Amino acid sequence: MCGIIAAASERNVSELLVKGLHKMEYRGYDSAGLALHQENDITHLKALGKVSLLEEKLKSENPSSTLGIAHTRWATHGEPSEKNAHPHKSNERIYIVHNGIIENHLELKIFLEEEGYQINSETDSEVIGHLLDYFLNQRNNILDSIYLTKEKLDGAYAIAVLDIKDGENIYLARSKSPLLIGKGNNENFAASDPLAIGKLANEFIFLEDDDVAVISKSTIQIYDATKQSIQRKITEIDSEYQTTSKGEYKHFMEKEIYEQPQAILNTLDGRVGGDDVRDDIFGIGSSELFKKVKRIQIVACGTSLHAGRVASNWLSAIAGIPTQVDYASEYRYRNPHVDEDSLLVTISQSGETADTIAALRYGKEKDYLSTTTICNVPTSSLARESDFFLYTNAGPEIGVASTKAFTTQLTGLMLLVLSLAKSRKMNPKLRKRIITALRKLPEKIEEALELKQQIIKIAPEIAKKENALFLGRGIFYPISKEGALKLKEISYIHAEAYPAGELKHGPLALIDENMPVIALAPESEIVEKLVSNLEEVKARGGMLYVFSDTSIKMDLSSGKFINMPECDFLLKPILYTIPLQILAYEVALLRGTEIDQPRNLAKSVTVE
Ligand code: G6P
Repeated sequence: MCGIIAAASERNVSELLVKGLHKMEYRGYDSAGLALHQENDITHLKALGKVSLLEEKLKSENPSSTLGIAHTRWATHGEPSEKNAHPHKSNERIYIVHNGIIENHLELKIFLEEEGYQINSETDSEVIGHLLDYFLNQRNNILDSIYLTKEKLDGAYAIAVLDIKDGENIYLARSKSPLLIGKGNNENFAASDPLAIGKLANEFIFLEDDDVAVISKSTIQIYDATKQSIQRKITEIDSEYQTTSKGEYKHFMEKEIYEQPQAILNTLDGRVGGDDVRDDIFGIGSSELFKKVKRIQIVACGTSLHAGRVASNWLSAIAGIPTQVDYASEYRYRNPHVDEDSLLVTISQSGETADTIAALRYGKEKDYLSTTTICNVPTSSLARESDFFLYTNAGPEIGVASTKAFTTQLTGLMLLVLSLAKSRKMNPKLRKRIITALRKLPEKIEEALELKQQIIKIAPEIAKKENALFLGRGIFYPISKEGALKLKEISYIHAEAYPAGELKHGPLALIDENMPVIALAPESEIVEKLVSNLEEVKARGGMLYVFSDTSIKMDLSSGKFINMPECDFLLKPILYTIPLQILAYEVALLRGTEIDQPRNLAKSVTVE
């Protein structure tokens, strides 16, 4: 993961770099650092912990520089420490920041040590600077040295390089990790995410794999894998996408939970007309292509995977399309059989998750009919590399624990179901019913958000515990998994989810008065069976918190019923997500954890 940023300007860039790092803390926040060029010297600062600690150091030193690079880290190789923080330097000349993983770093370290280099950190990144220095010492110029270094590196990287002997330029290279250039007014920038430089530039150039680039305050030169000078497309990004303030809320996660009605409206905007979805909402030609689809393969990670699991139920039940769902990190290693006429669907908030991108690229080499992504970042790698794309339009999601991205993904996935069902003799009544329910969904979500006061009452009981069990059946099982994921991510309470019928095959052994059990029990044909499962919990003294919209004949000795608003059954998975998000948030608030930036995690996982 990690976030990198670089700036070449006429003005002092030190504060700009730190501000950019703040905006990329979602990519990692265990240490930060920067290198600023000053005549024939470099100011090199590092801090263990969040970017604010680097900022304090910077204020006390107050350096002024027009050329610099900076980094916020999520540790992969080597513990979080100042020693392992970036920028890494070589020979007091070359300073580098890196996002990605250099897979062959151990063998490169041996090579470099034999060449007399001293390795000062436990990171995989440090070798990059030494390799550059090694090739420079062999009388290569810096551009050639970058190409020679690239030949030696296996893995993923986005790199920015500062050379003490060059007060004009910053050198950039990318392979598999995101990196873009932002054009400003007499200044140029590079960063892992447009968010970091969004206020400084409005034209962006997304570097492609194996590109190398050189930026100065007034020039941008890009070279392709064969060292040929090349022009890459210029993209303009809507400045609204850059809005990243917490407003009246304590945390971004809280704000993002309460933004969900509007976010879902945005997902639906322009996609629904009359009693159906519009044609080609996944891109020109998508409706025609979708007619041929006979099977679907979904790949995603984390919360996005849970959205895929809900959608697989919808796809087979509503559109009659058999669907398989895989963890993106597993998919390409199981030698999957690809049926003809299959559609590969990726789901991602960021569009930059390394495993999901790798799964898409793997899939593109197989016999898929086509590829489609549902994603919240239109400029992301997944959006650019997929044949078709639906933008969820949830707005930037900053909290590491995903909330509005999930419910908008589910909304987008229902639009996919309807788009696929269009050519498949779908019962018009069912189609109308779903469209009506989708239109009402934002107001239903508003009603679910009003459960906050009830949830605040149960949160203290759960906050005292160290474990929790989430139960759901059928399409609510992935929602219970999402509830467990939210709770463990931000409150650090160990939480697991089970399909309720599986309880007696093991987890029942865990039940006692210390085990809160959170059950999703919407009115359905199997609610009676679920109630029997809950009785089994009650008989063993478990604390039950039951979210339901039906009258359940059961006395709870400990725990509580929470009455859910009514809603069309098909969209209830989206509705039942809301109280679980609020529960995780309120519990974490009581436990005093770092809600927006939970320990050890990062929002955009750009390493495999
Ligand atoms: C990280 C985030 C999760 C997210 C997952 C997949 O683990 O913390 O919130 O669900 O990555 O990310 P994506 O951007 O592909 O949805």
